Amino acid sequence: MLSILTQLYNLIIRPILFSLPPETAQKIGTFPLRFKIPVKKIFAPINNNILLTTEYCGIKINNPVGTAAGLDKDCMFIPGILSLGFGYLTVGTITASPLKGNSAPRIMRDTQQKAIVNALGFPNNGVEAAIKKLDSIQQKLNKDNIQTPIIASISGINIDDIVYCHKKIEPLVNGIEINISSPNTEGLKIFHEKSTLSKLLTRINDMRTKPLVIKMPHLIDSTKNNTLKIPELLEMVSIITENNIDGITIANSMPIIDSRLSTGNGGMSGKPLFNNMIKIIQEIDKEFKGKIKIHACGGIFSGEDAWSAIEAGAETIQIYSSFIYRGPTIASLINSELLKLKKNSS
Ligand SMILES: Cc1cc2nc3c(=O)[nH]c(=O)nc-3n(C[C@H](O)[C@H](O)[C@H](O)COP(=O)(O)O)c2cc1C
Repeated sequence: MLSILTQLYNLIIRPILFSLPPETAQKIGTFPLRFKIPVKKIFAPINNNILLTTEYCGIKINNPVGTAAGLDKDCMFIPGILSLGFGYLTVGTITASPLKGNSAPRIMRDTQQKAIVNALGFPNNGVEAAIKKLDSIQQKLNKDNIQTPIIASISGINIDDIVYCHKKIEPLVNGIEINISSPNTEGLKIFHEKSTLSKLLTRINDMRTKPLVIKMPHLIDSTKNNTLKIPELLEMVSIITENNIDGITIANSMPIIDSRLSTGNGGMSGKPLFNNMIKIIQEIDKEFKGKIKIHACGGIFSGEDAWSAIEAGAETIQIYSSFIYRGPTIASLINSELLKLKKNSS
């Protein structure tokens, strides 16, 4: 069944969607996710296999495959995504006020590299709309006894806005991821600076009751052939660990110049990120082992990729681009491949 549905996506649905402009394709392709999809039970033996059970910052999850922020910006697709067997969901990024984002064109595909480039700039309906949506969804989840954790990604360009979002949303979700790393919002760079990051984390720590994760930037030096800025990343993680934050997500999309986008630059996602993502995890794990949980995100397309990220030090993995390229069965595909690797290694 898994291979039939995957082939259906590869041979029929993806070619149709990829013949459309990316934003139109995304709107059409995600529409069915507003509803429950009757595949959860079929794939349960894979996604709920005891060998895959793990944790997201202390919360038990059935498998390590989560959705990355951005796939469900307005908490519209929770019923559908839950049916697909993910171990957890990240919704958002949500901001204090509704935002339209940048003007089009703002998403491009790079099919040869299996990449997506975007300059969306946080279009979302704002925190008030998100809490209404999450409130009604949580009531349904409680009724159906569904315990898959929902993590809300929040952001803003000043501390007060982020604190406001956190306070409003935390009661309705299982954890919060703060996005200080989108390359499409210049104002977020203030949080890459030690003292501002520290102030933000102190304010959030004063009120938080649930796991908190910081989504790290994909820091590169464009003057040095796009080499990774490892010392700067380690410095940020040291502030994060000093503030006893539960986890980090490594990483957001990679800054890139692209004249096809209305803004002239954006963030790249997908396969080209994979090697950098693994390298960043290895460096951080070497320095901070046991002090912080790591969620791997960037170019994970297969069970083998997920396995490499976990071996490098990640607790869970998150995906966005492989959902677009390999289709909605992606959690089950990665989990079935992971299961084979686990069985072979034991
Ligand atoms: C169209 C698009 C929108 C995104 N929106 C967000 C967002 O709102 N918040 C965020 O933290 N990351 C966002 N991301 C980044 C992803 O969460 C992820 O970090 C990145 O795509 C790398 O993972 P991938 O290679 O699996 O796609 C977005 C990515 C894409 C392609």
